[in-house]
Amino acid sequence: MNSHSEQVNSILSLFVLSDEKLQKIVSLMLENMEKGLRKQKHTTSTLKMLPTFVHSTLDGTERGDFLALDLRGTKFRVLQVKLTDDDSYKVQSESFEIPEDIMTGTGIQLFDYFAKHLSSFLDKQQLKDKKLPLGFTFPFPCKQIDLDKSVLLTWTKGFKCSGVEGEDVVQMLRDAIHRQLDCDVNVIAVVNDTVGTMMSCGYKDRACEIGLVVGTGTNACYMEEMGNIEQIEGDEGRMCVIMEWGAFGDDGCLRDIQTEFDLELDRHSRNPGRQTFEKKISGMYMGEIVRLIVVKLASLHLLFNGVTSPALLKSGTFETNYISEIEDEKVGLTKAKEILLSFNLNPSEQDCVIVQKICNNVSTRSANLCAAGLAAVVTRIQRNRHLKHLQTTVGVDGTVYRKHPKFSGRLQATLKQLTSNCDVQFMLSEDGTGKGTAMVTAVARRLFAQRQQINETMAPFCLSRKQLVQVQQRLRLEMLRGLEKETQSTATVKMLPTYVRGTPDGTERGHFLALDLGGTNFRVLLVNVNSREEGGVKMVNQIYSIPESLMQGSGTKLFDHIVDCIIDFVKKQGKMGCRLPLGFTFSFPCRQTGLDKGILITWTKGFNATECEGKDVVMLLREAIKRKQGVELDVVAIVNDTVGTMMSCAYNDSNCEIGLIVGTGSNACYMEEMSNIKNVEGDIGQMCINMEWGAFGDNGCLDVFVTQYDQIVDKASINPGKQRYEKMMSGMYLGEIVRNILIDLTKQGIVFRGQISERLNTKGIFETKFLSEIESDSLVLLQVRAILQKLGLDVTCDDTLIVKEVCTIVSRRAAQLCGAGIAAVVEKIRENRRLNHLAITVGVDGTLYKLHPHFSKIVHETVAELAPCCDVTFHQSEDGSGKGAALITAVACRLRETGQH
Ligand code: BG6
Ligand code: GLC
Ligand code: GLC
Repeated sequence: MNSHSEQVNSILSLFVLSDEKLQKIVSLMLENMEKGLRKQKHTTSTLKMLPTFVHSTLDGTERGDFLALDLRGTKFRVLQVKLTDDDSYKVQSESFEIPEDIMTGTGIQLFDYFAKHLSSFLDKQQLKDKKLPLGFTFPFPCKQIDLDKSVLLTWTKGFKCSGVEGEDVVQMLRDAIHRQLDCDVNVIAVVNDTVGTMMSCGYKDRACEIGLVVGTGTNACYMEEMGNIEQIEGDEGRMCVIMEWGAFGDDGCLRDIQTEFDLELDRHSRNPGRQTFEKKISGMYMGEIVRLIVVKLASLHLLFNGVTSPALLKSGTFETNYISEIEDEKVGLTKAKEILLSFNLNPSEQDCVIVQKICNNVSTRSANLCAAGLAAVVTRIQRNRHLKHLQTTVGVDGTVYRKHPKFSGRLQATLKQLTSNCDVQFMLSEDGTGKGTAMVTAVARRLFAQRQQINETMAPFCLSRKQLVQVQQRLRLEMLRGLEKETQSTATVKMLPTYVRGTPDGTERGHFLALDLGGTNFRVLLVNVNSREEGGVKMVNQIYSIPESLMQGSGTKLFDHIVDCIIDFVKKQGKMGCRLPLGFTFSFPCRQTGLDKGILITWTKGFNATECEGKDVVMLLREAIKRKQGVELDVVAIVNDTVGTMMSCAYNDSNCEIGLIVGTGSNACYMEEMSNIKNVEGDIGQMCINMEWGAFGDNGCLDVFVTQYDQIVDKASINPGKQRYEKMMSGMYLGEIVRNILIDLTKQGIVFRGQISERLNTKGIFETKFLSEIESDSLVLLQVRAILQKLGLDVTCDDTLIVKEVCTIVSRRAAQLCGAGIAAVVEKIRENRRLNHLAITVGVDGTLYKLHPHFSKIVHETVAELAPCCDVTFHQSEDGSGKGAALITAVACRLRETGQH
């Protein structure tokens, strides 16, 4: 080898990247991707990792006519894209050059230029009065705020228009359209070219989740997990993220592969120090790098006998497409000669071979760097999804990739080497990014319309603070009506006296039986109340089932069943013949005249047994006991579950003077001043009032808050028109509200592909625990989807997101309503006691409150907001209301013994 070619080779060897170097670039890229996605470290990354608000790829229902403005390196196109039924599409388009002075003039000039050509295109195609939606491909780094709002961060490539950086480019386009056109064009999406490319390929291949552009500039985008994109709220599903990988290396991390030619090119560029990666890869720069090398070799007398020409010495004269021509397998050398002659050079055969070699080295480095970047993306996706083997498709566009004869082959070969356990397909975007942009526009239009429909549907569930204050005030009014003598008989919120006059004081003792009926479970308990030193209260219990046929059948049979369960339990506990006092938690509205007398006013929740309403429940139980001969039970007290819960919590916390249940049903009780309870004799001390707030609204006072879905659920219930507040709030109904909303959204074509399945039509499929599960933060989208699928619903990822959103809004309203209720109660107590500030504890039970991931927090927040002078602690009952019932029974026994009543 002569020294000439040695010298040439040593210069060109600067462009050869070893496997080791490429691997290092992959790791650096991965590191920067991670940092770019983080909120804190975001600024320390050269990769901007820009969220796009493009969530879903296409679902195949995109149809219609769209306009696209497709801005490219030095050209822009106006397109009309027609997406038709059979997955095919038609395109009409016109291309325009962008003159140099426009690329570097003012922003207004640039956008006016677009608008002018758009206008003439619309004229020619006779589209002016069609009001078509328009998508805008704007291939520069932008901070996207919404699909149709995007702020240019910095110009790249050849553009440098004044007054655009920091501005919303959609607004600038709209303004220009306004100035230039006398018709409406609705700009509804702005899209980076990488995203347009990904979407355009996604129309054919749903596995396409990466977009790559190697043209004038270079860049990539891909579908990232929402949970990893810290700049954006929400962690469900995926969103397309634009890497802006052109800027990779701007922090100097690629220094050791930087050649003198790269440095020189950078010095003379429009954006020195920026787009380091891009300047080694893309079409705007590759030709120039080749030229710089050629000039250098000529100056070293390694080319053209040291003779150059003014044309060669002028920057920007060696176009990148010359590289493509020169590297052609067959005619490359002839082409090289032609091209060099056109530069007024006099190349020898040998010169042509060397120039071909230069091209080869520069373009190979470009392809390898691109492959390293892609390898990082593929690896990231693979890690995100914990896959051993990833199969995915990259949608590609750009002149370099399209036109260079060897670029794609080299890119793919190197990628394969770097990601051996992935199967990556490449797909050329057929109609450039314009079609993809039309797709995004179509999706945007669909999502936009969908979003509006969902928002409209859900709007009545979103209560303002003002509305919540109204709820609080109305409840307060109804409470008064329930307490006053004159209004009490017609009041809907019954405010029932319970004859419980104080919370436990620790002197309660004895062995008791307790029943707990009316929640999710029917329970029989044996409760042992000792002194606190001896360990306090000890309990054993057993759950028995009550079939729906008994809940809604004959009352006699229901009570017979209850007694059977008690006997079974007592036998198992070896307590037959002990005649233990029994406290009965009976979670329904009862008008009490003493601790052991309670007339069932009306069944609520799922119960509707005959011959019970209007009767004393204690009597019904005693009669059932009598029917079982040889059994003796001593029914001492009847207790609502709210009261049982309050008492059970008050045993440990003397501040607990409110009981709250949010389970199957909902209700509250609290300690009221005797002087305010007008239908019970006496003015001294306090008594617990079972509010029966579930019936709040039965007189129509909540009608303004009742949605059409609440109405449907109410109508289909066993007690239409009753328990309106409870039906907006408790576990037995929330799932039904959700189901009815989903039916409606399906009819609107928004979820379940517009198909109402038999499952969705089935009453009660969404149990209370369903909302709790589906709204849990620890579940990823796929797990939520699996829950829905287990229920027999065939859902897409988008459906899953919508279902979850519906659940969240419905349960949020429930929690807020509950909070407004508690706020009314604590404020009343505070005013009763004439306090500026009240500290009080609420004892709470119920599956919705306990299991739901956000319910309790929203209740607390609402109370804090609506009752700012009260410091309210919530204490979850761990022992159920049975313990409270036993404590009340203990007090009742003592009173009985001392002859007081
Ligand atoms: C239980 C109480 O823990 O909660 C019952 O012991 C009460 O008395 C019930 O009725 C309410 O919640 P749910 O969700 O079971 O209706
Ligand atoms: C430049 C732009 C980027 C674009 C790429 C390809 O790098 O900054 O947004 O995607 O060129 O056109
Ligand atoms: C229903 C009942 C009420 C009970 C509540 C919670 O609203 O009417 O008595 O407290 O459910 O279980």
